[in-house]
Amino acid sequence: MGGEVKPAKGLRRHLNSGFVAGFLLVLVTYVIVSQQFAMDTPTAVTSTAPRIDEKESMSKAPVETDDKVRQEWQPKETPKDTSSAVATEELPKIDSTNAKPIENGKVVCSSNGFYSDTCDVDGDVRINGTALSVTLVPASRSSERREWKIQPYPRRTVSGIQEVTVTQLATPGAAAPACTVSHGVPAVVFALGGLTGNYWHDFSDVLVPLFVASRQYGGEVQFLVSNIQPWWLGKYEAIVRRLSRYDAVDLDRDGEVRCFRHVTVGLRMHKEFSVRPELAPGGLTMADFTAFLRDAYALPRAAAAIGVTRAPPQKRPRLVVIRRGHYRKLVNMDEVVRAAEAAGFETAVMAPRFDERVEDVAREVNTFDAMVGVHGAGLTNAAFLPAGAVVIQVVPYGRLERMAKADFGEPVADMGLRYVEYSVAAEESTLLEMLGPEHEVLKDPAAVHRSGWDMVAEYYLGKQDVRINVTRFAPILAQAFHHLRHS
Ligand SMILES: *[C@@H]1O[C@H](CO)[C@@H](O)[C@H](O)[C@H]1NC(C)=O
Ligand SMILES: *[C@@H]1O[C@H](CO)[C@@H](O)[C@H](O)[C@H]1NC(C)=O
Repeated sequence: MGGEVKPAKGLRRHLNSGFVAGFLLVLVTYVIVSQQFAMDTPTAVTSTAPRIDEKESMSKAPVETDDKVRQEWQPKETPKDTSSAVATEELPKIDSTNAKPIENGKVVCSSNGFYSDTCDVDGDVRINGTALSVTLVPASRSSERREWKIQPYPRRTVSGIQEVTVTQLATPGAAAPACTVSHGVPAVVFALGGLTGNYWHDFSDVLVPLFVASRQYGGEVQFLVSNIQPWWLGKYEAIVRRLSRYDAVDLDRDGEVRCFRHVTVGLRMHKEFSVRPELAPGGLTMADFTAFLRDAYALPRAAAAIGVTRAPPQKRPRLVVIRRGHYRKLVNMDEVVRAAEAAGFETAVMAPRFDERVEDVAREVNTFDAMVGVHGAGLTNAAFLPAGAVVIQVVPYGRLERMAKADFGEPVADMGLRYVEYSVAAEESTLLEMLGPEHEVLKDPAAVHRSGWDMVAEYYLGKQDVRINVTRFAPILAQAFHHLRHS
């Protein structure tokens, strides 16, 4: 997608495909996290919704902050509305006022925070794919006709996704299309595209929510996919196949009218790259998701090495350092590797490529007990580590800790891994030599955040590499080693 981006002033000169993909990750969470914390710490990271022109320069799938979803069951609430404490909590708002006796079926729609709207439809449900319509047909005359518009990609701020119309008819008969195929299993309707193609978004936006939506069915569920991306389904086949035994239906081009007794429309994201068990069917957790991944990819190690020791001949714990290609690179990789060795780890460097088979990456990552990486999509691979492993996230200079925690810190802890954070000091950032100590970017990161997303993206995320002071980093490595020794 990088080829689509026209070189222009400043930031855009430096765009390339990896850059674009990586920025979408942080842009989305930046906006969300900014909102979430705007309430309690108004001076820290303030609201910085990106403007349309920048967004469109960044990708074919620009992020919009306008809330395009019509929400008929609750007051309109946009991501810009920092006064909304409800959004901060992301609690589902269930519409159960129209629950009907079972013969007439029922539609239950919910909305959570900034992420997603979904409907669960029970009864005589008929789906016309080309019309993107899901219709509940009552057995007898019921209440008034109702309609919901659902964006089936679980970030409602993402544009380019067609809405699905969910309709509850008031009367049986006429307005309902006749079934051409009747399914004995439930269905989940969702969209691909959006921000997928970025490894972290693949997991955070689709794979985790899809797991939550469908795991309860043990494979006996039909996926109906709008904006279908065959390459994506191929890339994650091991996961998708384990969730559904049936070929996914290309919904937009499906000529059938498919009938089901139960349909979930849309995917629910509870939080970034994780699950909130209290919202998940059966209380599923993020640790259940990673256990499921180990199963899907036949990963041999369920638990990290414990009771490790530095003394030969016993095997040392294995640590992997994730190498990044474009920006936010570790400049002194060799030194970091030596420091990890000195701390007692057997150490390797990995530079996973986007076109690499997920099963190969998963298998390699699973051999390690600890991971070190600068904030970025490569850390998504922590999902393949054995339980009890340690993840050290190196947070680049510039007050990025909140975003780092939301994207990886909490997810990693939810996976049952130990999370350790290392915040880069100005002295360890290449921004210091590039801009000098008097530049606002070095002197006043809080002011840079107040100025908006542009400079945060351009400098802290885009122009910064990291030279870790291994003296300062040593206690972090020692902490990681200590955890493996005693857990
Ligand atoms: C499905 O929807 C399309 C587009 O609105 C329409 O042309 C078609 O007739 C519908 N199919 C049935 C069986 O109603
Ligand atoms: C590296 O960190 C140590 C310990 O914090 C500090 O004493 C030293 O000055 C740092 N070195 C550089 C070059 O900043």
